[in-house]
Amino acid sequence: MGNQVGFALWFTGMSGAGKTTVARLVEKELRNRGLKVEVLDGDIVRTNLSKGLGFSKEDRDTNIRRIGFVCDLLSRNGVIAIGAAISPYQVIRDEIRARIDNFVEVYCRCDLDVLIKRDVKGLYEKALSGEIKNFTGISDPYEAPPDPEVTIYSDRETAETSAARVMAKLEELGYVPSAEAEESYSDEEKEMVEDRLRALGYM
Ligand code: ADX
Repeated sequence: MGNQVGFALWFTGMSGAGKTTVARLVEKELRNRGLKVEVLDGDIVRTNLSKGLGFSKEDRDTNIRRIGFVCDLLSRNGVIAIGAAISPYQVIRDEIRARIDNFVEVYCRCDLDVLIKRDVKGLYEKALSGEIKNFTGISDPYEAPPDPEVTIYSDRETAETSAARVMAKLEELGYVPSAEAEESYSDEEKEMVEDRLRALGYM
């Protein structure tokens, strides 16, 4: 494997829209291909790097800037840095995109009705009843990105399909060598393999 190109893969979308799930599938696929990758997930970052921050606009901006800062450090050192946080504000996402040389944005879209129905963490119910204040999509804004590199639809496709579409885009952008190219043999190698199979009586 030659020199790996570092880049930031930024997942944005509302709580429960599939950011973590798809980010983890993409992480696994990238690792399988021998690439160095690190995931910065909002839920996890908030237990360490952003510990103590809440969900006011200021705190969210700080959280996102921190994640962006680490993604910048990692990506400029040849690592694939995956950010997965709601990152609801366009201005801050723009700021991070402008700072990071190689930046790919994935918008995780899902209808609010579906998010409320799914309510994996039970937070939408609490947000709707007012028990949780300033909840993204209910009582706090989510600004959809106008021009993401990839949009995935977690209410219309499986996480595997979404992950495959993200991988295809990364290959198309030249950030990741295509899986086919990695697996393909030279003509010489093919001949050697065929000779060997023939000698063994398999062909
Ligand atoms: S961000 O706005 O700063 O990007 P981040 O992705 O780190 O958010 O954290 C979001 C997670 O925190 C949600 O998935 C949810 O589990 C939890 N959470 C708790 N309170 C809120 C809230 N008011 N709005 C959104 N998410 C919340």
